[in-house]
Amino acid sequence: MDKLIIEGKSTLKGQVKISGSKNSALPILAATLLTEETCILANVPRLRDTDTMCKLLISLGKDVERVKDKVVIRQNKKLNYIADYDLVSTMRGSFCVLGPLLAKLNKVKVSMPGGCVIGIRPVDLHLKGIKALGAKVAIENGYVIAKCKRLKGTSLYLGGVFGSSVLATANIMMAATLAEGETIIESAACEPEIKDLAGFLKSMGAKIKGAGSPQIIIKGVSSLKGSKYKIIPDRIEAGTFMLMAAATKSSIAINGACLEHLMALVDKLNEAGVSIVKEGRSLRVKPARHIKAVSITTHPYPGFPTDLQAQFLSFMSLAKGISIITDKVYPDRFIHIAELNRMGANIRREGINAISEGGRVLFGAPVMASDLRASAALVIAGLAAEGKTEIHRIYHLERGYEDLDRKLALLGAKVCRAKE
Ligand code: UD1
Repeated sequence: MDKLIIEGKSTLKGQVKISGSKNSALPILAATLLTEETCILANVPRLRDTDTMCKLLISLGKDVERVKDKVVIRQNKKLNYIADYDLVSTMRGSFCVLGPLLAKLNKVKVSMPGGCVIGIRPVDLHLKGIKALGAKVAIENGYVIAKCKRLKGTSLYLGGVFGSSVLATANIMMAATLAEGETIIESAACEPEIKDLAGFLKSMGAKIKGAGSPQIIIKGVSSLKGSKYKIIPDRIEAGTFMLMAAATKSSIAINGACLEHLMALVDKLNEAGVSIVKEGRSLRVKPARHIKAVSITTHPYPGFPTDLQAQFLSFMSLAKGISIITDKVYPDRFIHIAELNRMGANIRREGINAISEGGRVLFGAPVMASDLRASAALVIAGLAAEGKTEIHRIYHLERGYEDLDRKLALLGAKVCRAKE
């Protein structure tokens, strides 16, 4: 197992290229189950999570070949309808094979993904959706088993206690592409990754309108064809680099990111005194002289993303004054507070709020990565801190940040990877 060693107080310089979106790549890879024809995906990030999804596709009967950022998915044998515990339990995103397998094979058995350190993470909306499309669903020995003759289009409301669900929307949209008749999903997730998935499905011949809005209309077709498709840039990776630059008071250029996907973060960065300006095809981060304390509340898109909450809290621990960070998507996603406090931050948790009294000097420390985005928050703190930070268990970072240590080194950060 590797650890990341960061020598802090470095100023970042130069430019960084953003990789393809992990959260687009996962459902799009799953969507290739909807056709026997070959699909070629470009801009697929090389990550532990995309590797896990490729392994899952292989276990389901696909041949998967990866060359740099391209993944070619072919099928030479019958699909298997069982998605095993071993692969689904390591990554929640695997659950989005449910919709495509059910639509294609009329039966599916997928391991329940279980909870994780960021919260309980139920799947009730996924099950509500496939039931509405006519599937009979049972839960047996930790597996979801669903069967149908052919899925039937319907109107359904997919909002939950915490708002819309990204992967439930993805699952139901994929299932509905091969259903008989029209499906209308109300309270659908509006995330850019849903629009990207719809873009891929449409390139396969699916009939979808409204993706990216709360109402998605899908007209079922009898089959889908193979396709070539390029995945959008990762807005969470881009946002994390913005916060790294902001926290180290650095000016860097971020290449290949999409500004319109990052407006909630950019607005809050502006409030804190940081400017993000378009410079040709890049986004330039111009740091604040004095970082102002600002508060954020996470919401589904276009609100402030929960996947940037931990990194923003880390940044706010450097701002003079009080900021309140509220997570309304994952109210328990605060495991990073304790580790940030070990580095000198002053953050306390009150229910779904983290209250940071910032402006102190952070100092390097040995810390433990606990989940993907919490680990990114520790990298931000380590870059801004005085002295050496050792981040243990960095395999969490490898789930969602392609070549992070190399990209940081190119920006002039003093980082290195070492064996534990
Ligand atoms: C996706 C992202 C994840 C991000 C999250 C929220 C992927 C692979 N992962 O996860 O990085 O943090 O969106 O933006 O795209 N919920 C229910 N019932 C359900 C499903 C979800 O109550 O059946 C709740 C969740 O517990 C959470 C909220 O809805 O409170 C949003 O979760 P959801 O959008 O489903 O997250 P994921 O799609 O799993």
